[in-house]
Amino acid sequence: AIPAPTIDFAAVIRTIPDYPKPGIMFRDVTSLLADPAAFRAAVDAMVAPYAEMGVAMVAGIEARGFILGGAISHQLAAGFVPIRKKGKLPLATIRVAYSLEYGVDEMEVHRDALTPGTRVLITDDLIATGGTAEAAVKLLRELGAEIVGACFVVDLPEVGGRQKLEALGVPVKALVAYQ
Ligand code: PRP
Ligand code: ADE
Repeated sequence: AIPAPTIDFAAVIRTIPDYPKPGIMFRDVTSLLADPAAFRAAVDAMVAPYAEMGVAMVAGIEARGFILGGAISHQLAAGFVPIRKKGKLPLATIRVAYSLEYGVDEMEVHRDALTPGTRVLITDDLIATGGTAEAAVKLLRELGAEIVGACFVVDLPEVGGRQKLEALGVPVKALVAYQ
């Protein structure tokens, strides 16, 4: 077999200062997604720890978590459940409010998205304060999910999201950490 190339993920993620608000260093993964080798290697690296973990469903967080979550669920032969911003899902939902690095919002999931006991992996492009991922944990647990872990391309450890999730009993993995 041809060995997979080693990819410097940080080198293919762009940083945009002061977006969407002054003081935020926005870590833009669209440049990683646009690079065929980097996108493939990122998905492979995100999937690897969970290959034997019995993941039945991947929960992707709108919007960039859908891109990664689709690829990850395909590789794990798992289903996909979208965690969406409010007002986008057509059937009965449960909803939770959350705060993030630059604002507040609400998100929701279909009430019938999971059967209790389903083993779920959460994914998104990035964890900052962890407010968004924590909201996903709350929604999924309300449906009776067993959360296997949460995986991200980027972790911003300074703002504490990883600790917040791990305090909830959710192991966190990320490919790149920025100080
Ligand atoms: C970004 C990112 C995560 C969230 C992380 O999404 O994709 O979902 O922020 O921040 P937190 O850990 O502080 O909660 P954003 O809210 O910008 O939405 P989008 O993906 O729809 O653009
Ligand atoms: N979501 C929250 N904080 C972010 C950041 N610094 N870059 C990209 N997405 C984010």
